[in-house]
Amino acid sequence: MKFFLDTANLDQIKEANDLGVLDGVTTNPSLMAREGIKGKENILKHYKTICGIVKGDVSAEVISTDFEGMIREAEELSSLHAQIVVKIPPIKEGIRAVKYLSSKGIRTNCTLIFSPGQALLAAKAGATYASPFIGRLDDISTDGIELVAQIVDMYNYYGYATQVIAASIRHTMHIIQCMEAGAHVVTCPLKAILGLLKHPLTDIGLEKFLADYHKLNK
Ligand code: G3P
Repeated sequence: MKFFLDTANLDQIKEANDLGVLDGVTTNPSLMAREGIKGKENILKHYKTICGIVKGDVSAEVISTDFEGMIREAEELSSLHAQIVVKIPPIKEGIRAVKYLSSKGIRTNCTLIFSPGQALLAAKAGATYASPFIGRLDDISTDGIELVAQIVDMYNYYGYATQVIAASIRHTMHIIQCMEAGAHVVTCPLKAILGLLKHPLTDIGLEKFLADYHKLNK
């Protein structure tokens, strides 16, 4: 399972990259706004900076909702760097755009997926990735992990090459559940990844090992 970081924060991307387990980054307009990145030039520059830090796919989202606008943006974004994957929403124009872009060899991440039907159309259109949003489904009393499992099963059954990026991960347990559901990728906050390391028996065990060593090696 690949780990992507779901942020536009450069310090966090560097920290996760230094861990040696980072496979990519996903961003969206809200995450860019959270870092105060505004203006087209700055936004494009920021994507390039991220590509310079991580050695993997970096998702950059279009803001157009019409076919021509999405294609124009996608071509500009993908020409920035070979690592860029263009995020497109699963609306009618978006699915058309994914199909067109995949025929041109431009990689896409179909984002804001909340149903198996949307994921099916994304795969049929040739999306590189499909991103179901787990936390936002959980927020409305719907099982987000169940959706991830459904999409993974469907893609495996029909042999679609589209990979599932479990997104809107809110905590460490989501990562474990996505692993059990067979997600190809999880994109998460750094805190959720670091949470995987937490175990009191590790801390107690380490403390005891060090204390025993130091007793005899003063
Ligand atoms: O990858 C999608 C993610 O950024 C959305 O997360 O927490 O706003 O639902 P959240």
